[in-house]
Amino acid sequence: MLGGADYGHHTLTRFFALHAGILPLAVIGLTVGHIYLFRRHGLTPKKPIKKADEYFWPEQVLKDAVACLAVLVTILVLHFAFNGAHLDAPADPSSAYPARPDWYFLFLFQFLKYFPGHWEVLGAVVLPGIAMTLIFLMPILGKSERGHRFNVGLLFGILAFAGILTYMAVNADRNNPTYIASKEQAAREAAIVKELAENGIPPEGALALLQGPKLFAQHCASCHTHGGENGLGNPVEKPSAPDLKGFGSREYLTAMLHPERFGSEQFFGNTAHAKKSKMQDFLDDEFDGIDDDKDLRADMDLLIKAISAEAKLASQSKVDLEDRAAIQKGRELFDEIGCTDCHALGGWNADDYSAPDLTGYGSREWMLGIVDDPAHERFYGKKNDRMPAFGKDEKLTRRQMERIVDWLRGE
Ligand code: HEC
Ligand code: HEC
Repeated sequence: MLGGADYGHHTLTRFFALHAGILPLAVIGLTVGHIYLFRRHGLTPKKPIKKADEYFWPEQVLKDAVACLAVLVTILVLHFAFNGAHLDAPADPSSAYPARPDWYFLFLFQFLKYFPGHWEVLGAVVLPGIAMTLIFLMPILGKSERGHRFNVGLLFGILAFAGILTYMAVNADRNNPTYIASKEQAAREAAIVKELAENGIPPEGALALLQGPKLFAQHCASCHTHGGENGLGNPVEKPSAPDLKGFGSREYLTAMLHPERFGSEQFFGNTAHAKKSKMQDFLDDEFDGIDDDKDLRADMDLLIKAISAEAKLASQSKVDLEDRAAIQKGRELFDEIGCTDCHALGGWNADDYSAPDLTGYGSREWMLGIVDDPAHERFYGKKNDRMPAFGKDEKLTRRQMERIVDWLRGE
């Protein structure tokens, strides 16, 4: 049932199969047995019999159908009112997520708090066992008048007890800042995963989807942001490197390759490149007034299409294919305008090019390369600002770098 040495993704999948496959089959089996016995022995109606005998069909079937319909309608209404079954952040055994049972079991959860250490068995098994035994015996006890009164007292006692404990559990959580903070974090992670799961859940489970943003928050968000946040929906104290959301896409390049934005805080403004940037100078010289000059804008759009196609982003595969001609024009323009004085776009070598290689810019391979070693001549060389060499210096495994890069590429 666990599907491994520990609770995890496989446990959930197996329990889902149990609930959706095996238990319904068992219910069908029991129902067949029930109907068999019921037909064999007949009913035992309460006496005196008030009504004449009736056939099961159609009168009783109609009543059953109405009852089933009422249940289905209730479930549908709940479904639409609450937007389906609620999906929390993926279970992560290494996180401090404060797991809580659903409200109807909260009283037991609270009850257990009073039995620390080896006393736990008393609260978890012995006392609930005694209560269940008493409930089981209710029909027998209820045969006498005193037994009946005992039953009623027991029922209301249990309800009141459970009610008070539930209230105490809710109240304790409401005044627990750690609980509230991690609940909010879980909600943010759930929202991220719901978005990422659009392309399907990997075989390793939904948690694998979160690994990219989690690793980013841990290793990259001390400098970079992702849409202004740290990847997990939290603010970044003092961002000091480009915002990497949509890296390599046309939108990203359109935002960045602009004389007034290249050196802004969103891109290189907080890096060492802000001071003496040849790229900034080049943009100022060649693309000044781009917002008002249609020809300049059109040239830049061709360049952007050509560079962005290098990323081979899945989300852009259709437009990249449609714009083949424009991309080819953009590549020619890249040479004509003089980008090739500093950047390669195909056929990079260390001697001819002083600026980052744009061959395969934003592709999986390129991004893994820059994360592996940004000070490699192909990327920033000696001019590399603070960006660490995650692969070369073994700060991250290859697998971890792939997780981050795949997530950044929207895959
Ligand atoms: C200590 C700060 C710092 C950390 C941590 C850091 N980077 Fe960077 N990163 C930079 C700076 C600064 C640049 C600008 C280029 C340069 O000088 O290296 C950059 C550039 C980049 C670029 C190229 C952006 C561009 O527009 O050229 C990518 C991609 C990138 N980083 C990814 C990452 C990833 C992924 C991580 C986490 C695994 C990470 N960085 C961690 C500082 C950092
Ligand atoms: C005089 C040299 C030079 C020329 C010409 C030049 N660039 Fe750059 N470019 C750079 C440098 C250097 C950087 C690295 C960032 C910095 O230092 O400002 C850069 C950065 C870039 C980046 C971001 C790279 C990254 O790692 O994210 C892009 C994209 C880019 N240039 C595109 C172009 C295009 C398109 C042209 C032609 C229109 C061009 N560059 C012309 C020097 C140049």
